[in-house]
Amino acid sequence: MDITTLKRNFIDRYGKSASDSFLYFAPGRVNLIGEHTDYNGGYVFPCALNFGTYLVIRKRDDDLISMASLNFEYTASVNKKDIVRKHEGQWVNYPLGVLNEFIKLGTELSGMDMLFLGNVPNGAGLSSSASIEIATALAINELYSAGLDGIALAQLGQRAENLFVGVNCGIMDQFASVMGKKDAAILLDCNTLQYKIVLLKLGDYKLIISNTNKRRGLADSKYNERRAECEKAVEYLRKVKNISLLGEIAEDEFYLIDQQIPDETIKRRARHVVTEIKRTVDAVKELNAGNLTEFGNLMNVSHDSLRDDYEVTGIELDTLVMEARKIQGVIGSRMTGAGFGGCTVSLVAENQLDNFIRSVGNNYIEKTGLKADFYVAEIGDGAKCIETF
Ligand code: GLA
Repeated sequence: MDITTLKRNFIDRYGKSASDSFLYFAPGRVNLIGEHTDYNGGYVFPCALNFGTYLVIRKRDDDLISMASLNFEYTASVNKKDIVRKHEGQWVNYPLGVLNEFIKLGTELSGMDMLFLGNVPNGAGLSSSASIEIATALAINELYSAGLDGIALAQLGQRAENLFVGVNCGIMDQFASVMGKKDAAILLDCNTLQYKIVLLKLGDYKLIISNTNKRRGLADSKYNERRAECEKAVEYLRKVKNISLLGEIAEDEFYLIDQQIPDETIKRRARHVVTEIKRTVDAVKELNAGNLTEFGNLMNVSHDSLRDDYEVTGIELDTLVMEARKIQGVIGSRMTGAGFGGCTVSLVAENQLDNFIRSVGNNYIEKTGLKADFYVAEIGDGAKCIETF
């Protein structure tokens, strides 16, 4: 499906009008390292992909807000005063949640027609939901002159997901979707929201995303449970140190006080978080120094910690990673995103790409009975308005 077809579909569905129509795009993301650290106030290192969600939007003269997607059959037509009503389990909760946040800020909305088209595989852990939120947020911000900057837009998208959709996600996905830069990753301190754009100098290596094709519903998954476990760890550690997030403790210090956590599972969850935050900072240093092999090694260690301590991988992700690491020319491979299915990201020598896709693909089918999909990641810019027509 291309953009011309999307625009034609918009006119077919909603008809012609004297008002301008706008085409927006917001990308999905792949996180290179720093997993399950964002909601703990730690570092993440994601980049925006060149696939994401397109949105065609046009203001109406009345109060009706219509939402449709070329990916899903479900549509919604609601009066602007009726935005707060949730549509159980439906994709429209993402854009509705965003509109609801703008209303809370006092933005005067009118009716509008919206048509979405996404090319991020759904539920693959590449932030299809954040890309819907951010495409909507940027469009509303600009069409209704709400005056939010990029960081405020990311925060608004996160609030929509937390409060309306009911997934307690951190800020990483929305931030990457707004602030991404072509051929670069973002080192983001999720506590202060200070960030650095880091050019990805990968030389003869490419980032390959491998999709387990095991669907992963964030809301149904154990994501919220992991967050609660981290909060529990903070509660125990507060007996000896006044912290509100795990990200406030350095790794060395953690080992001095971890006996305060009586529950072994909670202790392992916390250990993943504090070690992952350090790995993320170290990995970026290695990357900047041109030590790609060490960067890849830290990706491997990150996966192993997510598997053993945080327990968010599962047989499909572990199989893809293990098969990837057997291929010559693979210097790092790990799960990316929330886990429990979804995708892995691997650093692969360019001359091994075909071999990688063939061998990992075959061995994965043999071991799991599932067929994986592979994408060479193209790192693109953050959300933007593409055209007015
Ligand atoms: C999901 C969430 C993010 C982040 C990752 C795990 O993608 O939306 O906020 O917590 O999982 O790193």
